Amino acid sequence: MTQTLPLQIPSILPENAPFTPAQRAWLNGFFAGYLGLDRSGVKALSPEENAAVIAGVPSAGGAPVEEDDGEAPWHDQTIPIDERMKLAEGRPTARRMMAAMAQQDCGQCGSSCAEYSASIFAKSEPRLNLCVPGGKETARMLKKLYEEMEAEPAVKTGAGPAIAVLAEATPKADAAPSLAGTSRDNPSEAMFRARTLLNKPGSAKETWHVELDLAGSGIDYAVGDAFGVYPKNDPKLVEDMLHTLGVAPDYAISDRTFRQVLTDSVSLAPAPDSLFQLISYITGGDRRQKAKQLADGGDPDRDAETLDVLAALQKFPGIKVDPEALIEALEPMQPRLYSISSSLKTHPEAVTLTIDAVRYEIKGRKRLGVASTFFAERTKPGDRLKAYVQKAAHFSLPADPTTPIIMIGPGTGVAPFRAFLHDRMASGATGRNWLFFGHQRRDTDFFYEDEFVDMKAKNVLTRLSLAWSRDTGEKFYVQDRMRQVGRDLWAWLAEGAHIYVCGDAKKMAKDVERALVDIVAQHGARSLDEAIAFVGNLKKQDRYHQDVY
Ligand SMILES: Cc1cc2nc3c(=O)[nH]c(=O)nc-3n(C[C@H](O)[C@H](O)[C@H](O)COP(=O)(O)OP(=O)(O)OC[C@H]3O[C@@H](n4cnc5c(N)ncnc54)[C@H](O)[C@@H]3O)c2cc1C
Ligand SMILES: NC(=O)c1ccc[n+]([C@@H]2O[C@H](COP(=O)([O-])OP(=O)(O)OC[C@H]3O[C@@H](n4cnc5c(N)ncnc54)[C@H](OP(=O)(O)O)[C@@H]3O)[C@@H](O)[C@H]2O)c1
Repeated sequence: MTQTLPLQIPSILPENAPFTPAQRAWLNGFFAGYLGLDRSGVKALSPEENAAVIAGVPSAGGAPVEEDDGEAPWHDQTIPIDERMKLAEGRPTARRMMAAMAQQDCGQCGSSCAEYSASIFAKSEPRLNLCVPGGKETARMLKKLYEEMEAEPAVKTGAGPAIAVLAEATPKADAAPSLAGTSRDNPSEAMFRARTLLNKPGSAKETWHVELDLAGSGIDYAVGDAFGVYPKNDPKLVEDMLHTLGVAPDYAISDRTFRQVLTDSVSLAPAPDSLFQLISYITGGDRRQKAKQLADGGDPDRDAETLDVLAALQKFPGIKVDPEALIEALEPMQPRLYSISSSLKTHPEAVTLTIDAVRYEIKGRKRLGVASTFFAERTKPGDRLKAYVQKAAHFSLPADPTTPIIMIGPGTGVAPFRAFLHDRMASGATGRNWLFFGHQRRDTDFFYEDEFVDMKAKNVLTRLSLAWSRDTGEKFYVQDRMRQVGRDLWAWLAEGAHIYVCGDAKKMAKDVERALVDIVAQHGARSLDEAIAFVGNLKKQDRYHQDVY
């Protein structure tokens, strides 16, 4: 099979070089990354890609699979959607749907990229808007592919409920009944207990340790799982919406008030295509043309990126939007996932999260990340929150408690590793534990310092390697520290250690993987090709685990 490279990655290797397609893609990306030839960096095999190679296209919920088309070379979160779609050209529809996903396998949609796309293809999942990291681009592409599929009678898709092509909030029509708290479609209730700021004064970051009570919720979790929460919008933003629309807060929408619906049922950022479509129906002239362009993914005023729902309404001053029509045009509120940073063994009936507050400003208006600031400022002890556990498919502790583990988690990426360490400490696991943590400054951003120092003293944490990116004039990251201690890291790997990476998906995860390949090559006395194969094998053996977002 010939490997097609993303268009912007030039093929650096000679065509006759003796590599498998996957190795060729990886190496081309690797060299391109080193030489600065493209912005998509290294194209490496992910655990899911390896799984896909072995297992073929998954068939979620009995979804019919058009044919086994082998690898998924687009399964790399650093490749832009246009290039992913090019890579998937000519592939079966379900695979092109998969290529439209953000490729993070983050669990936000409730499953993996491959499973979610297979469910849409099988028509067992009517919602096309669940891939949060993919945003509007993914939803638009899925809608296009779905419409193509509907127009193509030759494609055998099996019976299923009619799809609402425009994004809908309706849960899966045929979803199997599940226990409350085990899926986004069947949340339970957790109670907010407390939050503690993890940064010290002077930090540029605002990261919270959040504690939730699970008593009576029926929610159960394992370390490595993520916690899903349905947040509420900022009341100030809701007030501004009501004021801009000129609608009374108690205007009735079914059995609720308009204010309530705006608060917890719809997303107020970003403005969806359907809102611009609605605006185009109730305006005329230039304004109508602009609204139509925005609804079609255009950007007539080069400001589309900045338009949340309020900014979109304010862009068309004076329009009169019916509240019911507005609600129908908006996207439903999506839950947010957070890596669990506790173990039930040390925190019975409780869960803790490590949440970085998202705040930024656009055109003089403060914008707030919905869920992160919900936890940072809008919850108080005793509040009950809709919540569930998203099981981790490939991010659990090794079954053998004597297996050594290497954990790499800068920033909030440390969250699941605090959970792993608590769990191993409580169970008396004898496997060695090595944590790489990094953040901006040692004095202000050393999360859980006291705990980690104490665990080190107790020899639960065998080794702690730190990297501070802003303490000196030069950036110094976890992967730089890994390279410094590469010989020891190789020794751990050679002794069977599992490796875990958590945190930023866009850059850090790839940079860490690149560093690992270098370490294997240098200290494992392997050629680059062999080192790549070694890391690829770690994934195949389920010894290289990633939880990135
Ligand atoms: C499996 C998984 C585990 C996760 N674990 C954690 C964790 O442990 N801790 C954690 O903090 N997060 C974690 N996240 C991320 C988390 O789910 C949320 O995405 C994050 O908290 C932001 O959500 P929000 O609702 O606060 O922001 P949103 O309301 O979703 O807003 C975020 C959006 O705002 C925009 N934005 C952000 N900053 C800027 C800027 N400077 N300029 C312009 N636009 C901007 C971007 O479009 C961004 O997508 C995890 C995600 C996944 C999938
Ligand atoms: N969806 C959202 O809006 C949202 C919300 C929260 C977090 N996130 C993302 O989640 C991730 C975690 O955020 P966080 O606040 O925990 O910390 P972070 O922003 O990832 O920063 C943690 C540390 O990693 C460093 N870093 C930056 N680039 C790196 C790279 N290529 N390789 C290794 N380390 C690198 C940072 O250094 P410098 O900063 O000094 O370069 C910092 O020291 C980030 O990607 C963040 O953007 C997204």
